[in-house]
This record gives sequence, C-alpha cells and structure tokens, in this order.
Amino acid sequence: ETLDATGLAILPGGIDVHVHFRDPGYTHKEDWASGTSAAAFGGVTTVFDMPNTIPTVATPEILAAKHAIADEKAFVDYGLYAVLGEESLDHVEALAEGGVIGFKLYMGNTFGRIPSPDTGAMLELFERVAPTGKRVSLHAETNTIMERREKRLREAGRNDPLAHLDSRPAVVAVEAVERAATLAEWTGARIHILHISSKEELRPLAEAKARGVDITGETGPHYLMLSTDDYARCKGVIRVNPPVREADCHEPLWNALKDGTIDMIATDHAPHTPEEKTRSVIWNCDCGFPGVETQMPLMLTAVAEGRMDIRDYVRASSEAPAKSFGLYPQKGAILPGADADLALFDLSEEWVIDDFKLHSLSRISPWHGRKVKGKLKHTLVRGAFVVRDGALVETMKGHGRSVHTIQRMPPAEPRNTHKTIAAVTAAQISAAVTA
Ligand code: NCD
Ligand code: ZN
Ligand code: ZN
Repeated sequence: ETLDATGLAILPGGIDVHVHFRDPGYTHKEDWASGTSAAAFGGVTTVFDMPNTIPTVATPEILAAKHAIADEKAFVDYGLYAVLGEESLDHVEALAEGGVIGFKLYMGNTFGRIPSPDTGAMLELFERVAPTGKRVSLHAETNTIMERREKRLREAGRNDPLAHLDSRPAVVAVEAVERAATLAEWTGARIHILHISSKEELRPLAEAKARGVDITGETGPHYLMLSTDDYARCKGVIRVNPPVREADCHEPLWNALKDGTIDMIATDHAPHTPEEKTRSVIWNCDCGFPGVETQMPLMLTAVAEGRMDIRDYVRASSEAPAKSFGLYPQKGAILPGADADLALFDLSEEWVIDDFKLHSLSRISPWHGRKVKGKLKHTLVRGAFVVRDGALVETMKGHGRSVHTIQRMPPAEPRNTHKTIAAVTAAQISAAVTA
C-alpha cells in the first residue's frame, strides 16, 4: 500500500485524555463507534473515556463489560477510567490490574450525578491509589456553591443566558486544585487536573509543580477560544462544566500551555442531543458539547495564526499526554507507543465547521460556522488506515485496542514527612519503654 503525502503534514495522532463516549447507557448521545469515528476524523488516535456511563465504572465486572463493548466498536485506541469514590474504594487494586488507564474523581457534581467524596474520603482514596501508580484525573470544582447560586437564579425566574455568567465563580476551582494538590503531596498520588478553565487555577497548579507534586493539567479549545462574550449567541449550547470564563483568561491560558504549566490539550468531548441542548429553560440544558473531531483543526488554525508554535502544540496534543499516562516509549526500549499513530493534515486547506457534518451523534456545538485552516486527510492507528482520503475505513471498526497493556506506571512514593517523624517517635518510645 502506498500513499502520496505530497503537501501534507504528518503529525503524531492526538491523545485525548478526556472524552465521554456514553456507551453503555446513553447511546442516543454517542456510542463507541460514533465517538471513535469522530476521533479518527479529527486526527485523534487514542482517547481516554470517562466512567460516567451506566452503570458507573466502579467494579472490575463493569470495567470488563465496557472493555468488551469498546473492543468490538472502536476505530481508534482507547483507555478506560474507573471512578474513584466510596463505591470503588474496595476495588482499587483489582481495577488497576483489570485494565484502567487511570481513575477519575469527581470533587463536584456534574453529568451523571456521581457523589463527591469529602476531604477525608479523598485522602483515603489517594492513599489507596498511590501504590498502583495510576494517575487520578480530577473534576476539580466544588460545585455546591454553583448549585446553590443556580437554584436561586432558577427560583428567581432568571432564564437569560447571561444570568449564567456570574453563577459560577472560578474560586471554587482554585480551592479544589489547591486541596487536590495538598492531598497528592501528602500521599504521593499522581494527579491530573481536568478542564482548567480560568487564569486563577494556574497559580495553585504552578505552585504544586514547584513543590514537586506529580501533577499535570489540561485545558480545552473552548477555554482558549470561547468566552462569556459567546453566551448570548450560543445560549444553552455553550453550557459546560466548568463554564467558559471571561475573555481575559485566554491569554494566560495560552501562555500556560506554551510554557508547559498546562501540560496538554484535551477536549472533554461531552455530546448531548440538540433537544437536550436547546431546552427553553437554560438551566435544563445538559452541560457539555462534542470536541474530539474539531480540536486539531481549531488548534492548527491557532498555530497558522502564530498563536502557538507547532512543536509546542504537538507536545500538548500527543507527547505530554503519553508521558503523563505512561505511554511514552521508555529510553532504549522498543515499545508500542512509538507505533505509527499518525494524522496527515493539509495545513493550507480552509473550511467551515458544520455541526451536521460532524461524526459525533450529538451534532450540536458552539463551533458551528467557525472558519478553520487545516483539513484532515488520513489517520493511521498502529500503521493501519482508519481514515483514508477523508473517508472512514468501515472495516476498521473493532481495530481499536486498550492501551493499558502498554502503560507503565511505577508505584508512587508517599512524600508525607510526618510519617517519618511518627516512625522515629515510635522507635524512640519503644526504646525508652524497653530501657
Ligand atoms: C461532562 C458530561 O457531560 O459528561 N459535562 C461537562 O459539562 N463537561 C461531565 C464533566 O466533564 O464534568
Ligand atoms: Zn468534569
Ligand atoms: Zn468531562
């Protein structure tokens, strides 16, 4: 098989560590075939799927059932998250051995209504995960304050999109990042901050990194390119957790992505149907929208506009997620992970995003009508075409494999200095008692 790649740019396939493919449970919104074909059409060759499906991924049995579905339908490679909470506490080791790519902890409420552990429970959960080496990805927002405010607005009959504006202060995210980093530092657990939306979260993230906490962070195109200025135009369609913030967050977020404070781009691909996104009461519109297919074109457009160097972009879209989740080829080793997961783009072709042409079942997003530069032509997963000449290779359904088999995450060491002090004291006490 030969391919004429004249005039095309060959990029490492994107690794999107944050997607919701809804299968099993909400397959009217998305399923493994539609979600991974959307990924393939976006040049994304590996996705990590969140556990807020039905039932919530909390036991090895539920995990195995989801693996079976994904194995049968996936066009691209994938990893599965299990939830980290009371319901999975006693299954942490089995889940880690049974094929999760990482754990997901919800510090605040969001789609699927998964309960959030309090600080004490979080500490125990982190202690339990640390020896497995797996990373804990955090929905780091304590939404109770947001829910309270939203309830008041709802009761006051405020139904305009702009009422949404002041309903969700970024301070709850800042507090959550700080708390998660403190507990990670104490327990040694590796953590990842999902959907960083505001300039305010950058301080606790950078501080934790400076203290040596094994912490990474992601942001998405919507936090870099959309703002509260888009609320009136998009209404419920732009409703997402966390909300897009004010435009003055864009510059600091871009800078953080360039200098590596924010490690990677992830989309939080969260599909809902047009009906679910356009309900007349704005508070009843489901949160989230699809993004896995548009991430690379949107970001490559920013690259073309000089907003970001292509090397920084590739680091954020592929290299950093691979490193953070143990998929990066080890020094000197010939390993999968360096296999041919490739996205071939015509970087000069301009086109307009059309929701109706997206491959997600969702077909509604705030990107509709946006002009982009960079058109995907071919996608290869482990050396095989899944998209060729802009068309899906239908026979590749089921080609996708779970990447947990190549993941390498050594146990994390606790950094809790008090433990050492306690041990010394115990030894001294027992010596004194013996003497
Ligand atoms: C996500 C979903 O719909 O599953 N929604 C969202 O607004 N981002 C859940 C989440 O990531 O919080
Ligand atoms: Zn979330
Ligand atoms: Zn999400």
